[in-house]
Amino acid sequence: MATLNKAHQARAHLLGVYAPTPHLFVRGEGTWLVDDTGRRFLDFTSGIAVTALGHGHPAVRRALEEAAESGLIHTSNLFRTHPAEALARELAEHSGLDRVFFCNSGGEAVEASLKFARRWARRGGDNPERFGVVALKDAFHGRLFGSLAVTDRPRYREPFEPLMPGAVFVDPADPAALEAVDPSTIAALIAEPIQGEGGVQPLPDEVLRRFREWTTRHGVALIFDEIQCGLGRTGTLLAHESSGVRPDILTLAKPLAGGLPMGAVLMTEEVAASVQPGDHGTTFGGGPLVAAVARAVLAEIAAPDFLAEVRRKGDLVTGLLEEIQARHPGRILEIRGRGLMRGVRLSTPIAPVVAAAQEAGLLLVGAGPDVIRLLPPLTISDQELAQAMELLEGALEATSTPQEVTS
Ligand SMILES: Cc1ncc(COP(=O)(O)O)c(C=O)c1O
Repeated sequence: MATLNKAHQARAHLLGVYAPTPHLFVRGEGTWLVDDTGRRFLDFTSGIAVTALGHGHPAVRRALEEAAESGLIHTSNLFRTHPAEALARELAEHSGLDRVFFCNSGGEAVEASLKFARRWARRGGDNPERFGVVALKDAFHGRLFGSLAVTDRPRYREPFEPLMPGAVFVDPADPAALEAVDPSTIAALIAEPIQGEGGVQPLPDEVLRRFREWTTRHGVALIFDEIQCGLGRTGTLLAHESSGVRPDILTLAKPLAGGLPMGAVLMTEEVAASVQPGDHGTTFGGGPLVAAVARAVLAEIAAPDFLAEVRRKGDLVTGLLEEIQARHPGRILEIRGRGLMRGVRLSTPIAPVVAAAQEAGLLLVGAGPDVIRLLPPLTISDQELAQAMELLEGALEATSTPQEVTS
């Protein structure tokens, strides 16, 4: 209790939009976070899909040190710097897209993608009514006025309305819903190939292909938001690769710069051609230090051996989860996701399980009230994976009700 009060007082000047745990973290070591008492926690959140290379990875530290040593931390986008140009080229080569706009967060990347999509959809200038955006049931794209408008969380949206107008939500499982949308009012369709905050729900490849077909047919921009599922998390560099679809616009952020804030909007030459000088901009986006670190992260993650390891460890964790499910049949309803982005849907609320796991030394994050999201660093060892699954099973047992034990 005394610790809780102390923690409360220490946070007295931080805006109360979060409810952080009382632990005060002072060190990061690979898959582990260490608090001010020296206690070690297995980090299965990766800062919500950010620290893909774990905490304190040598490649990230080296890039940071070298960039700091050069003294070139920020220049503004008034001037050219090498890291941003090189990173843009590398991202284009890896994605099959042509041009990149850098910004500072996922929400900003989505915001920019919506502006670019409108610009492109209104090319020719005689269709000002084309501003709507088709978004999906359970989507999460951010908390700004545009990204929030295409986020399917009425509780987050309603206190701040009116937001960007023109958002239309459809259920990706219902092809008829998309066909019922009037495309003449629509500039873009935005989709996460694996929905993250909405419960770790992968969209089947045929759904992504259907979106491509509909958007092409109607001259609508297709935006894939891979801010959470992209950059190696699913075992391929980009989560939509297996669909064979090329989106018009792709957003990236979270893991891109190894924990430094960075977002990116990748697009086709055609979309890029509709964006004019002055249409958009940012003071910090693509600065030399953050871009240098992102190049180091990308070089690690894009290596075929690294991605093969993510797939192997993804299979390993699924096998371990299935064993737990077999021992607790009524408790785990579903295991879903790909690579090292997994969702475990429970028959009971997850909050007590997350709390019990944390007490036992495993940091977890939820995705909605009944899904535990597993987002370990992609560099996690087999032994750490096994240890975490033991702690998760312990937390399930510690929070089971008598009915569940007997079921
Ligand atoms: C798919 C997706 N898009 C956008 C965002 C917003 O990113 P940020 O929190 O960096 O603004 C998130 C954050 O969780 C996300 O998961």
